[in-house]
Amino acid sequence: MIVEEAPAKLNLALHVRARRADGYHELETLFAFVDFGDTVRVAPAAQASLIITGPFGAALSDEGDNLVTRAATRFRERFGGGEYAIELEKHLPVASGIGGGSADAAATLRALARLHGIALDDPALFGIADALGSDVPVCLLGRTAIGRGRGEQLEPVPGRPGTPALLVNPGVAVSTAEVFRRWDGVDRGELGSNPLEGRNDLEAPAITVAPVIAEVLHILSEQCGAMLSRMSGSGATCFALFDTEVERGAAHIALRRTGWWSVATTLR
Ligand code: C5P
Repeated sequence: MIVEEAPAKLNLALHVRARRADGYHELETLFAFVDFGDTVRVAPAAQASLIITGPFGAALSDEGDNLVTRAATRFRERFGGGEYAIELEKHLPVASGIGGGSADAAATLRALARLHGIALDDPALFGIADALGSDVPVCLLGRTAIGRGRGEQLEPVPGRPGTPALLVNPGVAVSTAEVFRRWDGVDRGELGSNPLEGRNDLEAPAITVAPVIAEVLHILSEQCGAMLSRMSGSGATCFALFDTEVERGAAHIALRRTGWWSVATTLR
């Protein structure tokens, strides 16, 4: 059996530059990963199966439309091979802007590549990732990178490993397509040389879908002593970065009172 971690992805900044004719949006984003996520276990089997466990397992369909199943199907179409029993242990909230489904699909592709002796940087693997969703290629890469295009054109950059981080989700699932639809079409400029001084242009449209996101951002920025707080992706998960673990710990305790889902972790 192969065990693959599927760490959560953050958009440390996300600049939406233009709406494209194909319905997607042109982005400039700084992707990073944290030491917290789902786990995917894959073993050869006589019959294909997917079981979903973990705290957020019940929120997810185990039917053929699951991204894990779609990743396995695409892999078999391209590389051949038999059937697999897959277990997905879900720790990340679903539809929450931290790339849970994309991370799971990428972890499945990595596990199958290992089982078949295929290099993890095989362009065909990235082709499958790209077809599965805009965030799947960066999850396959699994390291800090600037994303352009739909988010699939990747340029690895140095990260800030070990930076204390807090993830907070107020328990509302948000549709990525809906948030992009509500973007006002105003290009607020490029990512620049220090993306941490940038923005997430999807915060305002996401707040119109789920107003509680404004509350999360307010608490993280006003009461938590964070060096940076922002929404990730299309929301609703927000994150805060801290200079020290002590500051993160104090913020985590303060946030527990809200009843929102929160996790103390670090950047990879
Ligand atoms: O690529 P993915 O399937 O994850 O995207 C989900 C939806 O989010 C797309 O159908 C599109 O409406 C929106 N999207 C977008 N621009 C991007 C990425 C996603 O408009 N760069």
